[in-house]
Amino acid sequence: MSAPSAAQVPDVPILQALGNRRSIRYFDETREVERWKVETMLQAARFSSCQGNINCTEAIVVRRDECDLWDEIEECVSGFNVQIINQSSHLILWVTNLNAWYGRAIDGISGLALCGAATKYHGWNYEFSMTQTIPRLMSFPTERTDALLRFESGQAVANAMAAGSGLDVGSILIAFGRKPGGIEKAFGLPPHYRFTWGHAVGYSAEDPKAGGQRPRLKFEKLYHDNAFGTPYVCDPSTEALLREKGLIQEQAPLPGRMDEIVALAERHGRDPGTLSFPAAEIERLMNDDDWDFGPNIRARAAHVLATEDLPEYPEEMKETFKKLMFEHGIDASKFLPAGE
Ligand SMILES: Cc1cc2nc3c(=O)[nH]c(=O)nc-3n(C[C@H](O)[C@H](O)[C@H](O)COP(=O)(O)O)c2cc1C
Repeated sequence: MSAPSAAQVPDVPILQALGNRRSIRYFDETREVERWKVETMLQAARFSSCQGNINCTEAIVVRRDECDLWDEIEECVSGFNVQIINQSSHLILWVTNLNAWYGRAIDGISGLALCGAATKYHGWNYEFSMTQTIPRLMSFPTERTDALLRFESGQAVANAMAAGSGLDVGSILIAFGRKPGGIEKAFGLPPHYRFTWGHAVGYSAEDPKAGGQRPRLKFEKLYHDNAFGTPYVCDPSTEALLREKGLIQEQAPLPGRMDEIVALAERHGRDPGTLSFPAAEIERLMNDDDWDFGPNIRARAAHVLATEDLPEYPEEMKETFKKLMFEHGIDASKFLPAGE
């Protein structure tokens, strides 16, 4: 089926589309995302920023009923993602071509010169590029290229998800941790290709708000003003503006969310509810000043503390967590039960 006319596709402002995005974990398996929408998401990825215009990010678009490798794919996906991929309309497997760096650097920059993008104004010149810049870039070991290009693939995926959000297509990134190397093997990827991430796409079976915007750390805990450790603060007027524009939305859980997940579980014969954490751990989290917790999540925490039979902290794991954090130089006392 061909794409609709432009006039038939509602325009969603970018701030609204970004604010509407959620990780969707329940898809309507009876609805197929139209091909033109998948194509649009891939086009958005293709036009994301990429280093030297080398175009390292590729994708394999997979449909459950069409792909002979589905069973192998399912074996690779982490257990908590199996339901998700089976309900999704499409699975996009994003892959990163490391050889784009080594093979396409010269052509990428040559193309940028022809476009009038790379110019002498900024110091580009052919001789220096060919004798210094490009050979230096091409001498990077693959580990370095890997880190650089995966970042670039992340850009592409984020663009695809934003475009999907603007077209009411739900997205979630999903880990394939169960069988490392399994996707590369199943698809016979050449050795210079890396499987970067899986991306399930579909129409949401949950309310598209997915119970509200998920909390983040406070703005000023994430951003630094001219010096590391000096908070970069967001002006309240900007926050107010962004609420109006839809980038910042009401925080989860919205009223009815818990009923919604129970109903979704019942419909599919799955266990209802969410996982529980110990009371002391919930209290510790709610008192953590780094998080931007609003009234909804605080009310939910209070309700859980008052009404639920919560587990105990697995004391035998304390040493393990302490050791794991110590290895990274993290002060475990903030993250582990008090008194340690
Ligand atoms: C690289 C990456 C991998 C993720 N992997 C998973 C996953 O395997 N399963 C899952 O349910 N969510 C996964 N997520 C979704 C995150 O849990 C989610 O983005 C986060 O909880 C914030 O929620 P939001 O995306 O709705 O804002 C992943 C997200 C990213 C960016």
